[in-house]
Amino acid sequence: MAFIRASTVRYLNRPKCVTIGNIRLRSTANLVKEADGIDSKDVKSLDEMPGPSMLHLMKAALTGQIQKPWKPLHQFKRDYGPIWKQMLGSNVVVNLTEPKDFEFVLRNEGKYPRRVQVDPWLIHRRERNLGLGVLLHEESDWQRNRAALSKRMMRPREVATYSDTVNDVITDLVNSLVRDRNNYGKDNIVPDIENAVFKWSLDSACSVILNKKLNLLDDKPHPEAQEFIQAVHDMFESLLWLFVIPVHLHKRFNSKPWRKQLKSWDTIYALELTRKVNDVTKRLASGEDIDVEGTDFITYLFIKGTLEIDEIYANATELLAAAVDTTSNTFLWVLYCLAKHPHVQESLYEEIKRVVPTGVTPTHEHVNKMPYLKAVLRETMRIYPPVTQLSRILDRDVVIRGYRIPAKTIIGGHVWLMGQDQENFPDPLEFRPERWIREENEQFYGFKSLPFGFGPRMCIGKRLAELEIHLATIRFCDQFTLEPTCDVEAKLTTIAVPDRPLKLRFINRNT
Ligand code: HEM
Repeated sequence: MAFIRASTVRYLNRPKCVTIGNIRLRSTANLVKEADGIDSKDVKSLDEMPGPSMLHLMKAALTGQIQKPWKPLHQFKRDYGPIWKQMLGSNVVVNLTEPKDFEFVLRNEGKYPRRVQVDPWLIHRRERNLGLGVLLHEESDWQRNRAALSKRMMRPREVATYSDTVNDVITDLVNSLVRDRNNYGKDNIVPDIENAVFKWSLDSACSVILNKKLNLLDDKPHPEAQEFIQAVHDMFESLLWLFVIPVHLHKRFNSKPWRKQLKSWDTIYALELTRKVNDVTKRLASGEDIDVEGTDFITYLFIKGTLEIDEIYANATELLAAAVDTTSNTFLWVLYCLAKHPHVQESLYEEIKRVVPTGVTPTHEHVNKMPYLKAVLRETMRIYPPVTQLSRILDRDVVIRGYRIPAKTIIGGHVWLMGQDQENFPDPLEFRPERWIREENEQFYGFKSLPFGFGPRMCIGKRLAELEIHLATIRFCDQFTLEPTCDVEAKLTTIAVPDRPLKLRFINRNT
């Protein structure tokens, strides 16, 4: 039947090719069609899809718009509509800005969802003869790694057991901010809050993943800490340039971003990890009897026995690298949004007073009774999602908005644009956590805001990140009133970060 009915999504699960004699013909039977109401003879090719030229993108790179792409992105949407294509390095990327279109892609991602491969990372691993973890593995290897990590990272009951560990590092953060504010700050402003928050996020991740707190927020922090934090920053910052200009050109000319990328990964790998892996290997070799349930994350992976040693090593590194900048920047955005909206701070403070008894350290159980707290985080991540774009590569052709998108094409979903679209969220630039309280708003936002991605390949650290940020937000809001001293915007360093120091005032509530 030539005509595809409106709002009918059909997934025709037939072979990819038909064979006649020795000739293999591509079959249209494996075409996944979208809710569009188009006649199949009208289906256009990818070549016909509009989009900015390579020249346009080069100009954007030279005029600094790569780090502030927000205006051009809104312009692309106005110029080309909800679907356009553009080059990214040597790849064509189809950009989607309508939640229902990207939902369609996500719902057809198959058993082993694929994202755009991060070539610079793969090349680094290959050149250094290192293994891959869940972030970079594909197909059944990815699934095996994901399954090994999921129990400890995704199950709410397991993640809840990290509350005490997480709280311990939050106490360090609060103490260090008070110390810095009192010793070096003027007018209640905490100097370099960014650095303290990065250390918090790294120490929290090390405490949970390596079972080793590095005490990074002490007066005399671990000597490797600053190096590691800088390496994670450099890795993300240089990655942006490696995405824009094809990586083989960077490699050939040994460009600065390429050298920075390799050097940062070497530093990330050299941290505590080698020590931890060696420790566990020794304990196991000595025949020590270790209880699998009661043990720490890395030892648990060793005992479970489904991963190679180089995969355990790779996974621990990838988890740490994926955790630090994302969690710390999200928390910075939460603090900024709270500071800019005193009435939100007061509503949150009221909820804290209702749920957490005075003098008691909050835990995941309190968080579960705090819808407004959760709404504050969701609203922050709607406006400032650190990961601004998701991607998927499907293993079969799809038709979206009348264009046939061949299998293996990179399809991007613009989390940033969707979260700030008036059609999805009325008055999108207004910070209104109430939008997320279901009793007050019938509408369900589902695919309109996906800061942690979706499906089996979604962020594996989501629950841990949420626990850390929720508990830290309670502690900060309970202890301080926050005030802004300047406006900040987002800039892209692969993830979206504040474009200048936050310089917030932390005023003790009890004064
Ligand atoms: C607020 C903080 C965080 C944000 C916004 C965030 C966001 C994301 C997003 C958008 C993805 C891609 C999901 C998809 O393609 O559907 C992702 C993947 C991933 N994240 Fe996070 N993340 C955060 C924290 C963390 C933490 C704390 C960890 C580790 C403890 C972590 C580890 C990972 C890993 C390993 C992947 C790849 C998973 C896979 O490919 O199976 N993330 N994250």
